[in-house]
Amino acid sequence: MANDKQSFGLIGLAVMGENLALNIERNGFPIAVYNRSRDKTDKFMATRAAGKHVKPAYSIAELVESLERPRKVMIMVKAGAPVDAVIDELTPLLEPGDIIIDGGNSHFPDTDRRTIELEKAQFQFIGMGVSGGEEGALNGPSLMPGGQKTAYAEIEAIVTKIAAQVDDGPCVTYIGPGSAGHYVKMVHNGIEYGDMQLIAEAYDLLKTGVGMGTEELHETFKAWNQTELESFLIEITADIFTKMDDQTGEPLVDKILDAAGQKGTGKWTVETAFDLGVPIPTMIAAVTARVMSSYKQERVAASKILTSTTTGKYDGDRAEFINAVRDALYCSKICSYAQGMALLGKASKEYKYGLNLAEVARIWKGGCIIRAVFLDKIKQAFKRNSELPNLLVDADFTQTILSKENAWRLVVQSAAKLGIPVPAFSASLDYFDSYRRDRLPQNLTQAQRDYFGAHTYERIDREGSFHTEWTDK
Ligand code: 6PG
Repeated sequence: MANDKQSFGLIGLAVMGENLALNIERNGFPIAVYNRSRDKTDKFMATRAAGKHVKPAYSIAELVESLERPRKVMIMVKAGAPVDAVIDELTPLLEPGDIIIDGGNSHFPDTDRRTIELEKAQFQFIGMGVSGGEEGALNGPSLMPGGQKTAYAEIEAIVTKIAAQVDDGPCVTYIGPGSAGHYVKMVHNGIEYGDMQLIAEAYDLLKTGVGMGTEELHETFKAWNQTELESFLIEITADIFTKMDDQTGEPLVDKILDAAGQKGTGKWTVETAFDLGVPIPTMIAAVTARVMSSYKQERVAASKILTSTTTGKYDGDRAEFINAVRDALYCSKICSYAQGMALLGKASKEYKYGLNLAEVARIWKGGCIIRAVFLDKIKQAFKRNSELPNLLVDADFTQTILSKENAWRLVVQSAAKLGIPVPAFSASLDYFDSYRRDRLPQNLTQAQRDYFGAHTYERIDREGSFHTEWTDK
């Protein structure tokens, strides 16, 4: 009987899978779940899923059997080979028209490959970015589904219900064909790296340059969260400073090793930006900063050799500098998002994703890691002009950034003077200064290329390509 069947199947009960399953069930969709190791399923059924409309399956065949048609099976396993392994196991059991959804952080070329393979076999495939961590998955993530529109229509009722809800709707929309969803999620993560690095630099300036302790850091970030910086990442940063270490009774943040890990989405964002020829210096700085942080031992050794005369403490007006750091953070953030949105714009054309950037900004307003009040302004900017070449030339952002420019320069200058590294703040400022320059020095670069390699150059006053014999030889 059809009504015995479950509306949705989910494979992979790690943190995200478990929470998404509970979210789907809570929203009125009976769900079947499967995990490779049976223990995990049993434990889930005995604890968080107890008494809920969750049907455990102990084989993929059993899972498939329990679903209404067209079947909707979501895969929540580690990106890469495990996704292919599950798809290989799943497809012989499915029928044409059934829908596979990959909800992991898959690399977009993999999603394109899977789309082609699965379409050939007459399955529908959705590559869906899911953001929001554990809490988001349970209570409302931001969802970025890409793939066939017909497949999206089949899952629309579910995804619109389980997504985070904001003032202008659920944080989900059909993103575009093929790998569009995973591409947008990857860029979301690149932006997330940028945001996190910018916040880390602000923290360093306040801690090292201003001499703030964790209590004052907490108060400062809490206050900043009442400003245009209001966002999930600023909020959790304020929280982090209040957490004490059980073992020492001291602030936990001070006990954490200063070496950040990464799983690859930031790096992929940088790679695709180079492939497409889009400058994203803030995100490059953020990825590089994580890599640099991992050289802990070398840095410790170098700190004893490369001693410098910089004092490390800011000696100007303290309150003014703190506000300047906030403004610099905001300006840098605007530049970072300008880069991210420009990258999406270029990818949309190149890969024919047909992205609606106002909608992308809208679905990032809630649920995801980069959720922020600020995203509404981005949405408005792209609503005013869907072909906006860069966020910086939207009148609203132009006005904001120009009004804070001096504070931003003061911070970057001071950081250089104090010897506090601010790679993302300065990359953002360089981006701003380069983008607004009508003439950059690459005329010289062209002259050099032509000089040593006859690579030719163009002229400012005549069409065509030119070569010069630069010496008499
Ligand atoms: C999200 C996060 C999530 C995860 C990434 C972070 O949107 O919910 O981006 O996908 O936190 O794995 O990646 P790193 O481990 O590379 O920092």
